[in-house]
Amino acid sequence: MKSINIVWHHHNVTKFDHSSQKYQKPCIIWFTGLSGSGKSTIANALESKLFGMGKHTYLLDGDNVRHGINKDLGFSDEDRIENIRRIGELSKLFIDAGIIVLSAFISPFHSDRLAARQLVESDEFIEVFVDTRLDVCEQRDPKGLYQKAREGKIAEFTGISSPYEAPTKPEIHLDTSKYDVEQSVQKIIDYLEQKGYLNA
Ligand code: ADX
Repeated sequence: MKSINIVWHHHNVTKFDHSSQKYQKPCIIWFTGLSGSGKSTIANALESKLFGMGKHTYLLDGDNVRHGINKDLGFSDEDRIENIRRIGELSKLFIDAGIIVLSAFISPFHSDRLAARQLVESDEFIEVFVDTRLDVCEQRDPKGLYQKAREGKIAEFTGISSPYEAPTKPEIHLDTSKYDVEQSVQKIIDYLEQKGYLNA
């Protein structure tokens, strides 16, 4: 921490006030999985569904966030760690604002996902593993990036030349060879309803 002489300011309107106004319990729905696994597609469909239910949500997405607040970061281990650290801090602010945050980043390292989890209360972090096999992602290759990575034109590509550490105990495990997008969304909605996030 570089800054000194700073004192935490307590606000009159609390996280509880923000979330009660919206009749929801804020949380981070943290999607993790390989590039092309379907994280953004499922997160997008889930956000539409939640929005239709009158919930206040916000979707943070890897490719988009890297155009703005994280445009100074690349794909070295160090930059990915900083990418996820900032997303964790951003998500925490959204939680404070009473919002249901959906974050869709590869977030390949277990320790970074754990650090993001530890920034918030234990029931505020819902890890969703979008489990799509590498060969399936590579076959889809929606942005042509796997091909470039195989040709050695992109260095440190997740799954090819940079590691992906799969979650061992995610709150929700989506085996995408068994569930389509709609079923995946429904699984997450069921979880949120059962645990009382949607009618607090
Ligand atoms: S993360 O590893 O730091 O969590 P993030 O989710 O922000 O990654 O960005 C991943 C997206 O960036 C991929 O979906 C892909 O479109 C693009 N990308 C570009 N270069 C790489 C790379 N070397 N490894 C992985 N993804 C890359």
